[in-house]
Amino acid sequence: MKKTIELVMNMKKAGKRITMLTCYDYPTAVMQEKAGVDVIFVGDSVGTNMLGYESAVEVTMDDMLHHLKAVRRGVKDALLLADMPYRSYETDEIALQNARLFIQAGADAVKLEGREELVVEYLTKNNIDVVGHLGFTPQTHDKASVQGKTFEQAKELLESALSLEKAGIKLLVLEMVPEEVAGLISKQLKIPTIGIAAGRYCDGQVQVINDLLGMTQRKLVHVKEYADYKTSTFQAVKSYKDEVENGLFPEKNNVRIMDSGELQEFKA
Ligand code: KIV
Ligand code: NA
Repeated sequence: MKKTIELVMNMKKAGKRITMLTCYDYPTAVMQEKAGVDVIFVGDSVGTNMLGYESAVEVTMDDMLHHLKAVRRGVKDALLLADMPYRSYETDEIALQNARLFIQAGADAVKLEGREELVVEYLTKNNIDVVGHLGFTPQTHDKASVQGKTFEQAKELLESALSLEKAGIKLLVLEMVPEEVAGLISKQLKIPTIGIAAGRYCDGQVQVINDLLGMTQRKLVHVKEYADYKTSTFQAVKSYKDEVENGLFPEKNNVRIMDSGELQEFKA
């Protein structure tokens, strides 16, 4: 059954935790869909994770659309969310144009960072579902750091969350926030919160797929590696190289041979 934004929002009331994961390509989308991930998310983290960029601010609309279209082909029932990249929502009109490109490319909803209530209202009025993102926001902070650690900052974060909810966001991503603060915000909001590095008390969790698969060099507190991609990929590639060099690959069962009659004719 197709997971609409309403269905995902209702999971909060039903006490069901929401799973969300970043996804940047077709085969990974097929696996996430098969595993039943609720929200498959083409994040602008595609830049640093898949394209070798230094920062999120280098990611363009064209980058996002290219990956979104690939992921779309692998998604069936999951909610497909796309991240609006840096400077793609500077005014409400620019935001609407770009959000419509995402919807045309198959996104069900778009996410944007920060206190952008006017843009949220404008997109919502034009029938586009918007997801918010507060706490650490990579498009405007250059160094990852915990947000909302002091009483004043925590209060401000809660006010921002309530104000974005009022503007119309359907879900709120909280990134790098102490878990007590994320928990309190989750209690105060009617809409679900989805946390990354925001502790145990959010209504759902989001992770970067590269981190979870063990593709990343960095070791982060909030990450659990469920696979060891680095090691298995290196070993596979190294074994292939060694076997080709030593004449061990291909072997007999990797080759096709001619019919014996045809072979005789060919040799003649
Ligand atoms: O782009 C991304 O991966 C994100 C998540 C960290 C929420 O915005
Ligand atoms: Na992002």
